[in-house]
Amino acid sequence: PLPRQFAVPLPVPEVAKPVRSAGGVDFYELTERAAEAEVLPGLRTPIWGYGGTFPGPTIQAERGRRTVVKLINQLGEPTVLHLHGGHTPPESDGYPTDLVAPGAAREYVFPMEQRAATLWYHDHRMDYTGPQVWRGLAGMFLVRDEPERALPLPDGERDVPLLICDRSFAADGTMLYPGLENRPGVREAYMGGVLGDVILVNGAPWPELRVARARYRLRLCNASNARVYELTTGGPMVRIGSDGGLLAAPRTVKQVRLAPGERAEVIVDFAAYKLGQHVELRNLAGEGAQGKVLRFVVDRDEADDSAVPPRLAVVEALDPAKATVTRDFDFSSGSMHGGVGWLINGRPFDPKRMEARPKLGDIEVWRLTSDVAHPVHLHLDAFQVLSVNGERPDGPPEWKDTVELRDAQTVEIVTRFTDYRGRYVLHCHNLEHEDMAMMAGFEVV
Ligand code: C2O
Ligand code: CU
Repeated sequence: PLPRQFAVPLPVPEVAKPVRSAGGVDFYELTERAAEAEVLPGLRTPIWGYGGTFPGPTIQAERGRRTVVKLINQLGEPTVLHLHGGHTPPESDGYPTDLVAPGAAREYVFPMEQRAATLWYHDHRMDYTGPQVWRGLAGMFLVRDEPERALPLPDGERDVPLLICDRSFAADGTMLYPGLENRPGVREAYMGGVLGDVILVNGAPWPELRVARARYRLRLCNASNARVYELTTGGPMVRIGSDGGLLAAPRTVKQVRLAPGERAEVIVDFAAYKLGQHVELRNLAGEGAQGKVLRFVVDRDEADDSAVPPRLAVVEALDPAKATVTRDFDFSSGSMHGGVGWLINGRPFDPKRMEARPKLGDIEVWRLTSDVAHPVHLHLDAFQVLSVNGERPDGPPEWKDTVELRDAQTVEIVTRFTDYRGRYVLHCHNLEHEDMAMMAGFEVV
């Protein structure tokens, strides 16, 4: 039986404290360890957590202030840390074979020369990202900066990170993952990716958040292995941010679609509701219990001097006419080791093979095609979507690091790799597809 909905308060993951700060650098330590968590009321769930918690602590970084994270692996398996959406030098980007052995530690250096944005961090071990993230290795990472702080957006308690993921549990509270014994990947029945039947927000099942009649900034992050959400409150929401931070201008929307890895920031003004009213954040892409996510209960009045300004940020438009090259990446299933796998350009991931060698600073157009749906994620730099099946998306350009290709789609993106030369990856962020080889290396030269 599924746990009751809206029976537990929304937990907000603790904000990580630097172990020291010196010379404009903040040093953090994240210890990965096995622990037990009360995910479902009254039951103990074994998890793997950064700091022993699921999700891990939220790291808050400031643009231009170097953040150093020492990862200490106290698990029985190798791990590797990736800052999703980070503009990170290659040795700290978590290349899927740059493993931290059990008992070892490693420092990751994040220069944070990037826009304010809602990022997240998670494990990225080649062939095993799906099960390792499922067990709990994920957390939020917020980048802030002065231009954003100067805006009158809601902040403090009214700036809420919502890390959304689904999981399945046995009756005793143990997480269920249909992985193969001592072998990467999942059984045939899970070729589409692993879905859970319990929707967790910040690690709690269908929680409830008591809110004031005021504006809230919700930082929505889809940290699920494979589930896509179409989130709605039933009323208007004002979308202000994307994967790569603030939009040029706010956009009123009825729903927000998020594939695995994607983020969106919305402002919801609960002053539009009455005291005592319940407002459900629902998932139109799910049915029954999976169609529900979170419930807000409007329980008080509160002074609110926040606002959503008509201009949020300057978003440079990358000009595809200046592109030096157009590359094609096809995301389709195909045969692999005598079975079936998920491939890019017909080839399974080989960490030593570079599928592209873009030149530092050049603008490039990448044409992505799919058989079935694949959320495609690019490391190092954000990109802008030029077209979907030949049509321009509406609205001005926004910075993305993950884009959902729907069935048999062609999506053209424009990007420019800056600051760092070296090896990175692009891959499908359906984590089971990623583990079943839908990843490719590229080297910025
Ligand atoms: Cu969120 Cu390469 O991953
Ligand atoms: Cu995929």
